[in-house]
Amino acid sequence: MRKKVTVVGAGNVGANCALRIAGKELADVVLVDIVEGVPQGKGLDILQSGPVEGYDVNIVGSNDYGPTANSDIVVITAGFPRKPGMSRDDLLLANYEIVKAATEQAVKHSPNSILILVTNPLDAMCWTAFQVSKFSKNRVIGMAGVLDTARFRTFIAQELEVSVENVTAMVLGGHGDTMVPLARLTSVSGIPLSELMDQATIDRLVDRARNGGAEIVKYLKTGSAYYAPSSAAVEMVESILKDKKKVLPCAAYLEGEYGIKGLFVGVPVKLGARGIEKIFQLRLSADEQAALQKSAAAVQELVDVMKAKMG
Ligand code: APR
Repeated sequence: MRKKVTVVGAGNVGANCALRIAGKELADVVLVDIVEGVPQGKGLDILQSGPVEGYDVNIVGSNDYGPTANSDIVVITAGFPRKPGMSRDDLLLANYEIVKAATEQAVKHSPNSILILVTNPLDAMCWTAFQVSKFSKNRVIGMAGVLDTARFRTFIAQELEVSVENVTAMVLGGHGDTMVPLARLTSVSGIPLSELMDQATIDRLVDRARNGGAEIVKYLKTGSAYYAPSSAAVEMVESILKDKKKVLPCAAYLEGEYGIKGLFVGVPVKLGARGIEKIFQLRLSADEQAALQKSAAAVQELVDVMKAKMG
């Protein structure tokens, strides 16, 4: 029997997730959105690419969660995207309500699913889904690091004029301006970055990766990035559905790892059939640890705002 993935939010990120899942023939897809007709129309349109592209999966759109029953994975992209000049954090309370409602429905209809959060502010939305779902921590995962490293890898490959496939990178911390790209763990076919470019260049590329989302928002004006975010989410879906056990930077619930407790923060994890199967703990330099603490503090601030709202 084919696997089933629900994508909540049939907007830019959600529709592209559905398209990529279909394109890779990973699973049947149910697209859910509150806007009447949109998930149905986009679902049918993606389905009709099948004969040309050669995929045999079913894609349906719905305004209710009935058709989502017993999904293996629920990807939550529903929410407002970031507008120019708006920080991810401005989105907090609006998207809190949306993610809370989506999680309640997802859990009701797919009690054994794994949740992948994409809605921003990412780490805070993971916390919301974790609290609401009461799922074990291995089954609530946030998409941030795969996207952040993809951006960093792109800029490194461009700079060196080498294949993006040869560039691997690692990033820790929250998804936002405080993220912590680990340049010393970034390499090109195993060659450390420091052998290939000077520190000023590394700093420039780190900075561009850190502001990669804002750079695109500035161009688009009315929305935020969606091609690379959907690629990143679907790499996570694939690793779980195929039990590939890829090691990827994802937002995970920490219980003392890296000295952080009770928060979702980006760390390297192993993603397999059980979701997060391992959190890798790296030895950090004093500077890296301090940057990670700063990033975790920024996530904590958002969680405190939500806790105050919850009363
Ligand atoms: N249930 C289901 N869908 C909802 C709900 C809800 N309660 N509330 C809003 N939506 C839908 C909207 O109708 C819209 O179709 O979520 C979709 C969001 O799509 P876009 O506005 O195109 O936003 P997108 O670019 O896809 O970004 C979605 O992902 O990367 C993050 O920061 C981004 O938080 C944002 C999210």
